[in-house]
Amino acid sequence: MLEGRKILIGISGSIAAYKIATLTRLFVKAGAQVKVVMTPAAHDFVTPVTLATLSKNPVNTAFVKNNAGEWTNHVELGLWADVFLIAPASANTIAKMAHGICDNLLLATYLSARCPVMFAPAMDLDMLAHTATQKNIAILQGFGNNLIEPNSGELASGLEGKGRMAEPEEIFQCINSFFNKQQLLKGKTVLITAGPTYEHIDPVRFIGNHSSGKMGFAIADAMAAHGAKVILIAGPSSQQAKNTHITRINVTSAAEMFEECLKVYSKTEIAILCAAVADYAPVQVSTSKIKKAGNLLNIELHQTKDILKELGKLKKKKQLLIGFALETDNEEANALKKMKEKNLDFIVLNSLNDKGAGFGFDTNQISILHHNGTKKSFGLKPKKDVAQDIVEQIIQLLHV
Ligand code: C5P
Repeated sequence: MLEGRKILIGISGSIAAYKIATLTRLFVKAGAQVKVVMTPAAHDFVTPVTLATLSKNPVNTAFVKNNAGEWTNHVELGLWADVFLIAPASANTIAKMAHGICDNLLLATYLSARCPVMFAPAMDLDMLAHTATQKNIAILQGFGNNLIEPNSGELASGLEGKGRMAEPEEIFQCINSFFNKQQLLKGKTVLITAGPTYEHIDPVRFIGNHSSGKMGFAIADAMAAHGAKVILIAGPSSQQAKNTHITRINVTSAAEMFEECLKVYSKTEIAILCAAVADYAPVQVSTSKIKKAGNLLNIELHQTKDILKELGKLKKKKQLLIGFALETDNEEANALKKMKEKNLDFIVLNSLNDKGAGFGFDTNQISILHHNGTKKSFGLKPKKDVAQDIVEQIIQLLHV
């Protein structure tokens, strides 16, 4: 599975750096191409010569390579890699990554890399447990970087606890299953809608909603991580799509979102409509700012197109169509009704009654209702993990 894969390893200053020699060897033996970038502190623990010999590539250690002033192109390194593995990731390097500090080649490569990033922390137990480190790790996970959990055991300080870098064999397995995962949706094109829509009333006002786009963007990331080509049609949202397999199309109104969906729907195998689309939009959009006049102001609204329902009508046998239902009462009955009316394969139900679920939160609690009558309920979890649950349901449907 690693044959021909391009793995960039970033080594920072920790005693665990010596284990990267073994890991490099495992990768090379499995047919991967390996390049290494080191922080200055990493030199105290492992030599570039060791890693250059094992990786069969020169090791990148500084912005300027030699006395002739040859520059190391960190952008090229980041673009070359299929995955960037930072191991061992010291507390210092994790902190700098979390805050965009860029004072060595590893960090510059991290900031410019477009590929998925994995990081394997290694440090003493108290450093790892410190709120600052935990917050920094959470920030990196928020960026979509994948944590390879440290182990518990004997530490270099002589203390015992959590902080040992995962063993080379464990890291190897993580990278291997990461590439396995990438195969599962390879060749599939997916349409995802996300975020709110804004329906203009006049040049400065609109009707909108509190959707942040977090759930839809998390699904886009998860689908792309499994190798799918994602077309993400997003209403106004500050979320960022990082994966290069995601093509983002920005829209503002429900009508624009509908138009963009229609353009691409026939080319997709899977569509997940997650956006909180306005059900009504003003009939007239005033070309100038509406002035204050009298106690009452009436704005006449007309129904927008139900994008999901329209795609349900166009749906071909081999296409999967998935919708969301955000309900406040009669949740399940309403969701089931929508699933039928809109011709869906499954509907993801989240209730506004559940604490921590719904608009704006980083967490969500869902149930998945299938058209065959089965139901699967999940606990409250980060939207990234919820997205993973949804992707797994899709993979199961594709492989039955
Ligand atoms: O009927 P309701 O709006 O509750 O249905 C929610 C589902 O329908 C979501 O998947 C949402 O993205 C989709 N939807 C849509 N177009 C609309 C309204 C909702 O695609 N105009």
